[in-house]
Amino acid sequence: MNCCTSYYDRKRKNRLDGKTVAITGATDGIGLATALECAHRGAHLILLSRNQEKMERAKKMIEQEVNDSEIDLVKLDLSDVDSVKNAAKNLIKGGFRINILVLNAGLAHYKPELLYGINSGSDLKIQFSSLILSKIFKVINHFSHFLLLHLLLDHLVGSESEPARVVALSSEAHTLANGSGKFWQKYASEEIATKELGTGSDISGAYAESKLANILHMKSMAEHHPHINFVSVHPGVVNTSFADKWKSGIENKCYLCFVRTLSFSWKPCIKTPYQGCQTSIYCICSKDIVQGQYYSDNKPKRIRIRGSKDLNLIKNQLYELSMDFVQSCMNK
Ligand SMILES: NC(=O)c1ccc[n+]([C@@H]2O[C@H](COP(=O)([O-])OP(=O)(O)OC[C@H]3O[C@@H](n4cnc5c(N)ncnc54)[C@H](OP(=O)(O)O)[C@@H]3O)[C@@H](O)[C@H]2O)c1
Repeated sequence: MNCCTSYYDRKRKNRLDGKTVAITGATDGIGLATALECAHRGAHLILLSRNQEKMERAKKMIEQEVNDSEIDLVKLDLSDVDSVKNAAKNLIKGGFRINILVLNAGLAHYKPELLYGINSGSDLKIQFSSLILSKIFKVINHFSHFLLLHLLLDHLVGSESEPARVVALSSEAHTLANGSGKFWQKYASEEIATKELGTGSDISGAYAESKLANILHMKSMAEHHPHINFVSVHPGVVNTSFADKWKSGIENKCYLCFVRTLSFSWKPCIKTPYQGCQTSIYCICSKDIVQGQYYSDNKPKRIRIRGSKDLNLIKNQLYELSMDFVQSCMNK
């Protein structure tokens, strides 16, 4: 048993019968484990993913474990703004009444062939990496989820006693961010992002800033929409394909060696996906969650960043930029 895990309600007494839980990136890792736990608690699931085959596989796996589970699949590729708009449209048109939305999908790597299964030659890789890199953190880890939530906001279903909920997967990696806004501004412009970040430098910094963005996103939404509950989560260090994808994207050998040593020293604390979904499940089920809070190990956790930036200020700046991004997507 992992000594770093705080389990939540292992007997599954907190039920989700009659509730609909929609989860992005539910085909793998923490998202899949979260979906399975929600199904065990009686929730109707909507799996949102870009890969139809993996979605079907995830659905089958959950159905095999949980009799009578009710699962719908909706295509969503967070690296494609049109796909995000279509997914929201399909959810609204399909009459899905979402009570809980889990913004789980995320990446910390940028190799194009890993992203899309493209077995490309090196020239193609370079072209793709500048294009895709501009999309990864900008779109997948923050801006795309911001757009999806924006489009679904008026369609989330809750009541005064049981408000709708939104749970965003962040990370303690946010503590490596400095919130200078440099990253967000770069990514808010496709042109600059492609030009300046096409080399893949400062990839870890970009990941950290994107995970800070997830926390600040939930905080802003909590202020603007107090009738819905918004929280963010650090799942722990979890043994999913996430880390392998990340490591395979590191080209600097010294840095890779450092990361491998670090991973080894973390080993006793590395969680299984089931253990890694505990705080998400806590935030989905618990009646005690605090509006806008960031959670780790089923408890509120302090947000810390590098430097002395005012978190409130950068939260508001990020919100403005994200709303501009939404506007530009809607005008497309
Ligand atoms: N693992 C950790 O140690 C750790 C630590 C802290 C925070 N987190 C956070 O936890 C979340 C889940 O991570 P994980 O470890 O479960 O990762 P994972 O095993 O790599 O799963 C990521 C999920 O996101 C989906 N995804 C990736 N790109 C997408 C796109 N363009 N459109 C739609 N879905 C996409 C993947 O779908 P495909 O199957 O199609 O690729 C997959 O289902 C992430 O937000 C991550 O930042 C993880």
